Amino acid sequence: MDDTTWKAGLEDVIAARSAITAVDGGAGRLYYRGYEIADVVERLAFEEATALLWFGEAPDPDAAAAFRARLAATRGLPAEVFAALRTLPRDCHPLDALRTGISAAAAHDPDARASDRDANLRKACRLMTLVPETVGAWHRIRTGREPVPARTDLGHAAYVLSLLEGREPTPDVARVLDVVLTLHADHELNASTFAARVAVATLADLHAAIVAAIATLKGPRHGGANDDVLAMLREIEDPARAEAFVADRLDVRAGLSRAERADPRARMPGFGHRVYRVDDARARVLRGLAQSMAAATGRERLFEVAERVYAAVKARTGLPVNVDFFSAVVYDALGIAPDLCTSIFAIGRVAGWCAHALEQYADNRLIRPRADYVGSPPRTFAVTV
Ligand SMILES: CC(C)(COP(=O)(O)OP(=O)(O)OC[C@H]1O[C@@H](n2cnc3c(N)ncnc32)[C@H](O)[C@@H]1OP(=O)(O)O)[C@@H](O)C(=O)NCCC(=O)NCCS
Repeated sequence: MDDTTWKAGLEDVIAARSAITAVDGGAGRLYYRGYEIADVVERLAFEEATALLWFGEAPDPDAAAAFRARLAATRGLPAEVFAALRTLPRDCHPLDALRTGISAAAAHDPDARASDRDANLRKACRLMTLVPETVGAWHRIRTGREPVPARTDLGHAAYVLSLLEGREPTPDVARVLDVVLTLHADHELNASTFAARVAVATLADLHAAIVAAIATLKGPRHGGANDDVLAMLREIEDPARAEAFVADRLDVRAGLSRAERADPRARMPGFGHRVYRVDDARARVLRGLAQSMAAATGRERLFEVAERVYAAVKARTGLPVNVDFFSAVVYDALGIAPDLCTSIFAIGRVAGWCAHALEQYADNRLIRPRADYVGSPPRTFAVTV
């Protein structure tokens, strides 16, 4: 195998054929089934965007109502999942708890032994609910509270928020989360979606694929950056300190080795992207939402910190801001704990994970690439006497 066939991190390598989502990294554009993301969030609620991703067309009002009802009918965290969560130490990271909860749910799923299209659609609907219910239940358990009972009268975003604090949000607040979930719903072959497709390609079950995706989302190069952004902004705390913080972190990088520079603490979370060369459309929508939510909730200080960090990183590096940066500011305004940001990301992205899994099951071939072997040439063990 010659060098030209290997690309570090599979950069720009085409690893799947997909009709779900297109990313134009040069122009900062994103399309779900051909619709620009800004139009999708304006026209569709998260449940409808999910149907668009799964079935290829935006549902008409009757189909949308039926799909919402189908999702709502899956509500109610299985007792076995709740019991599994109760065994975890309280300082367990929410994403680890989520991974564990979905793994436990797999064993009890009524379609555990079936993997035909209808069974996988039933599982996908259950997973859309299981993910937020597990996140909510774990957050309640770790804060010494009882989980919030299931309700079927709320839209998905309102239900997600109610699961955390037990309060029904106002329609405006629910709409903000609805937009954020839709913005996170899919993003082509991002690392967690690729992990899900690799699992599906072995014909592993859908829950197994979602567990692989959640595990992959956790890292700070991917969804984990969402938690890191909010922690960083809170650490900076004072807008007047933002420029100096950015300068310090970027100046320190100059004296580091390549390996040291790769440490997440030597990077700016929320900046840089493998595909985008400019700020993407999601980040632009999120920046506007972050500003209006900060004003509405009196949390302008954190937004101001974020704006100053954004300007300073742009001025010094030109790196694009990514989806994790301003979404963290929105989560803060929604009262979401810093270490729950990546879990909220998962609540949106499970729609895309399932869409890609269904697409992979429908036209599957094992994903099994090659390594460019650079180790020792063939040799024999030395003979010892
Ligand atoms: C997203 C990300 C992993 C993309 O990685 P990638 O395409 O593999 O790019 P690389 O890691 O090879 O980075 C290339 C160069 O860009 C620069 N760079 C990229 N992201 C950076 C960041 N967030 N802060 C500082 N420098 C960054 C570095 O100079 C790096 O060169 P180096 O390896 O010599 O230090 C990377 O930008 C990153 O780590 N960002 C921060 C974490 C984050 O926000 N992740 C969420 C992504 S949606």
